[in-house]
Amino acid sequence: MITIFGSINMDLVARVRSIARPGETVLSRRADSFFGGKGANQAVAAARISGKGATRVAMAGAVGRDPFGKACLDNLTQNGVDVEAIKVVDEPTGCAFITVDEHGENAITVASGANMAVRAVDVPRSFLSDASVLVLQMEVPLAENLEIALRARRAGATILWNFAPVPAETERAAMADMLAAIDVLVVNEHEAVSVAAMMGKEVEGDYLKAASLLAHTYGLVCIVTAGAKGAVAVSPDGSQRHVAARLVVPVDTTGAGDTFVGVLAYGLAEGREVSEAMQRACVAASLSCLTAGAQAGMPSREMLEEALSA
Ligand code: RIB
Ligand code: NA
Repeated sequence: MITIFGSINMDLVARVRSIARPGETVLSRRADSFFGGKGANQAVAAARISGKGATRVAMAGAVGRDPFGKACLDNLTQNGVDVEAIKVVDEPTGCAFITVDEHGENAITVASGANMAVRAVDVPRSFLSDASVLVLQMEVPLAENLEIALRARRAGATILWNFAPVPAETERAAMADMLAAIDVLVVNEHEAVSVAAMMGKEVEGDYLKAASLLAHTYGLVCIVTAGAKGAVAVSPDGSQRHVAARLVVPVDTTGAGDTFVGVLAYGLAEGREVSEAMQRACVAASLSCLTAGAQAGMPSREMLEEALSA
């Protein structure tokens, strides 16, 4: 079983020629709504790979008592995600305002709503004791991530933390406790440098240096995703494993990082080696960029196997 503790959003997406700068207004033909939220995206990515459910994928989180909340729950269920630990609260369902430019790059504002009501204490014990992997991100309160990480650690689950998005400010002590509690940190180049800076490490913008320092200091595997350059895993002993990306012409990169995390977590839960799980995650992430919306392009197990053998 994989448990994903995190955010659930409805994404409102407008395609633009170029993303508006402060004070600027740009026109877009229309807005589309897609299912999103880093937690939900990662859960759907893992569940798609699970296919007929060889490994159970469960999500713990919160939605509002509103039509978006109902739609998000239905979507997760339809994708084979267990929604038993998702609570319905008196806050609006999380909503992300996304603009995607003509190169498929995006800018996102998240209105957290119900996601800030997510609590570790609400997660039933079996969701941790039965889980081989627990997946966390940064769209629910850090204190709750820490509490669930400590619980999962005692239960013996492998903890994977996707440090995204980078918050405006964090409590350094809680960050240090989190880094000490987890097993795998997944970040992009910019996030790697940000975490290192938060922990007082001088890395001069070098993400490999950041990853090495974090892996060594906290005894974790730091995986850095570098878009078209692929991904690299750095172990506590400093050894590096690189994986290349499949080059695609992206339509929409929203959710590519989440696809990587969900498929990586699934691979680890299946008992795969880190580099093999990363290879599968990279290919799945590339495929996800070919379709608009965070979740629509996430591959099924069959699609992924086909792409891997091509
Ligand atoms: O990682 C992509 C996701 O970030 C979007 O689906 C949006 O909801 C934001 O949370
Ligand atoms: Na996509």
